[in-house]
Amino acid sequence: MALKEGFLWGGAVAAHQLEGAWDEDGKGPSIMDVTTAGDVSHARRFTEAVEPEELYPNHEAIDFYHRYREDIALFAEMGFKCFRTSIAWTRIFPQGDETEPNEAGLRFYDDLFDECLRHGIQPVVTLAHFEMPLALVSRYGGWRSRKLIDLFVRFATVCFERYRDKVTYWMTFNEINNQSSFNDDFSMYVDSGILAREGEDRERLMYQAAHYELVASARAVEAGRRINPAFRIGCMIAMCPVYPYSCEPADVLLAHKAMERRCFFADVHARGTYPPSILALWRRRGFELDVTEDDLATLARGTVDYIGFSYYMSLATRWSSDNPGFDFDRKTSLVVNPHVKASDWGWQIDPIGLRYTLDWLTDMYRLPLFIVENGFGAYDTVERDGSIHDGYRIEYLRAHIEQMKLAVEEDGVDLMGYTPWGCIDLVSAGTGEMEKRYGFIYVDKDNSGAGTLARSRKDSFFWYQRVIASNGEDL
Ligand code: BG6
Repeated sequence: MALKEGFLWGGAVAAHQLEGAWDEDGKGPSIMDVTTAGDVSHARRFTEAVEPEELYPNHEAIDFYHRYREDIALFAEMGFKCFRTSIAWTRIFPQGDETEPNEAGLRFYDDLFDECLRHGIQPVVTLAHFEMPLALVSRYGGWRSRKLIDLFVRFATVCFERYRDKVTYWMTFNEINNQSSFNDDFSMYVDSGILAREGEDRERLMYQAAHYELVASARAVEAGRRINPAFRIGCMIAMCPVYPYSCEPADVLLAHKAMERRCFFADVHARGTYPPSILALWRRRGFELDVTEDDLATLARGTVDYIGFSYYMSLATRWSSDNPGFDFDRKTSLVVNPHVKASDWGWQIDPIGLRYTLDWLTDMYRLPLFIVENGFGAYDTVERDGSIHDGYRIEYLRAHIEQMKLAVEEDGVDLMGYTPWGCIDLVSAGTGEMEKRYGFIYVDKDNSGAGTLARSRKDSFFWYQRVIASNGEDL
């Protein structure tokens, strides 16, 4: 059994990482417009407003806003069947709480989706990909506030109505589960627009914000189904399977607990209920969250059609006696897996982990799956003749596609498609670098922002073209 006919081969990006034009045509500032540049050892910082002396890599990004026609033509040349991008909330509702949308912003996505469709490329659209209007952070504290549910649903509804006949595949919140690492400022900020204050209970804060987002997602799913019953609306989870470092039972249990904490979001999206382990955790911690009967009914109704997920790496964890509660913390519980190699950014390379993930998600949720991100961030070298020999990227992707096919062919996984991340070089979300490159298409721009923004084809471009043309047979 090969990959199915109509398998959605393509590539993935997010608005803030490539569009640029951060203040054009009525767009409001988003949280990513006040996020500075960083690198592998310096975290990105968040300023309250745009400061003139700071470098904000997302302001210009790769200027896709003005160059999307050229870029989509290149995607079409590779044979893309779909293109995953996100809608910048701030183009549609610049401050987030207006009652009327910004027509110029809506028009941009009309043109973008029309251009994709003209090339036979289906848009796959994420509504919230690590960005929300900055005004929602200053006015409401981001997803601390229940008010955000209505505002998000208004945004989602406007998009569903406007693009009713152009977009079939949607996702609500990108990597909603990153914030399970609630001690990490970046994850809390990009998922929920929350900067924890000194002394606040970050864990409680995260569960409350996540609950509001899950309710907002469920309400959006319901609205989408009303607007067009043919829509397929999914969730989006960052999947890093957590392995026990050893077969010592405490290691195994801690790995299991880590998966519970990281993946309960998928339970709520897919089954419409919180798993017992999370309800028990709230009781144990004494969290009395704002969760109403009405919310629970909404969650049960607004379950998703498929699970979209990113897969880059696996993680490994080891228990220690100072952790009697088997709490998983990405900062303290992780260990290096000696059986796999890592990228220059320390991301562990584990193709078998993708098959494991596909099998695990199928066993858990029995839903169609969509690999909406996978890829290898690496430094590229441009040769004197302009060519870029990125064999390491081909090797990474080939090994992952092989495992993906095994999951489909041998394990019966129902897989909708595969969209490698950053199909064109773009700004790294985690570090703000341009030089952490994922693309099949090279963009001439460096970490300082210098470069012509010219596009060129890497070796992987021609390789991926063959992969798509052969429906994954010619790897
Ligand atoms: C995922 C995000 O976390 O990984 C993307 O959905 C992100 O937005 C991608 O860019 C790769 O991460 P990074 O930090 O290398 O850009």
